[in-house]
Amino acid sequence: MNILILGATSGIARAISHRYASQKHRLFLAGRNTDELKKEASDLSIRYENENSIHYFDALKTLDHQQFLQGLNSEIDLVFCVFGYLGDQAELEQNWDMAENSLMVNFVGACSILHHIANDFEKRKSGTIVGISSVAGERGRASNYYYGSAKAGFSAFLSGLRNRLAKSNVHVLTVKPGFVDTPMIEGMETPGILTAQPQKLAMAIENAVNKKSHTLYYKKVWKWIMLLIKNIPEGIFKRLSL
Ligand SMILES: NC(=O)c1ccc[n+]([C@@H]2O[C@H](COP(=O)([O-])OP(=O)(O)OC[C@H]3O[C@@H](n4cnc5c(N)ncnc54)[C@H](OP(=O)(O)O)[C@@H]3O)[C@@H](O)[C@H]2O)c1
Repeated sequence: MNILILGATSGIARAISHRYASQKHRLFLAGRNTDELKKEASDLSIRYENENSIHYFDALKTLDHQQFLQGLNSEIDLVFCVFGYLGDQAELEQNWDMAENSLMVNFVGACSILHHIANDFEKRKSGTIVGISSVAGERGRASNYYYGSAKAGFSAFLSGLRNRLAKSNVHVLTVKPGFVDTPMIEGMETPGILTAQPQKLAMAIENAVNKKSHTLYYKKVWKWIMLLIKNIPEGIFKRLSL
């Protein structure tokens, strides 16, 4: 299979790359940091003897996205939209440029690239789209509502794509992780038992792709935690520190 990984230097993307490279799939590793991508591609090729190529991709440069896809010169079978930006909520509240960056990367950038990919897959009547959203999109909270609202929008976008593309044999999977042990949450205090390792998440994602699941919560318990959180009456919720 030809597999496109958008945001290939991320902790979660690296774990996904290892799983698929070990099965000899051809990987198109895309991201902004081409030095890191080169190192990753060479590491994968040495370990697994699969074919890997690297491609410059910036989620914010939406006008270039169509050209970026044409530049791959290959038909993609499976795409992972993994890039994301959390930022520091307190800083984002004081700095609109940073807040806008969060909304643009996590929502607009992700929608833009998948917009073009969806049209291609629909025409070809095949393909799988995996979008890494977040449980943070399930209910807006004071601690991360720029990131969370962008992820809420992204989850809704993926749901719409799934609805549109089901009749064209295109599979869309929404992944909603809780905490995952990657550079994104470095320095944050997270509950150990609820924090997933990226390798285990990657394994769960691969299973969900194979089973053609629609939504994957990881760890699974987050589905029930979020159900509880979503059902707290607003009058109580607004006074909680979550
Ligand atoms: N870690 C968690 O706890 C957690 C939980 C729920 C959901 N997620 C989601 O999982 C995905 C992967 O996160 P991670 O934890 O693996 O994060 P990570 O290791 O911090 O990586 C973030 C990635 O996003 C890329 N990125 C940021 N802005 C970009 C832009 N404008 N264009 C292209 N790439 C850009 C970064 O590339 P550069 O190297 O160029 O900066 C980096 O590769 C994200 O969508 C995140 O929101 C993570």
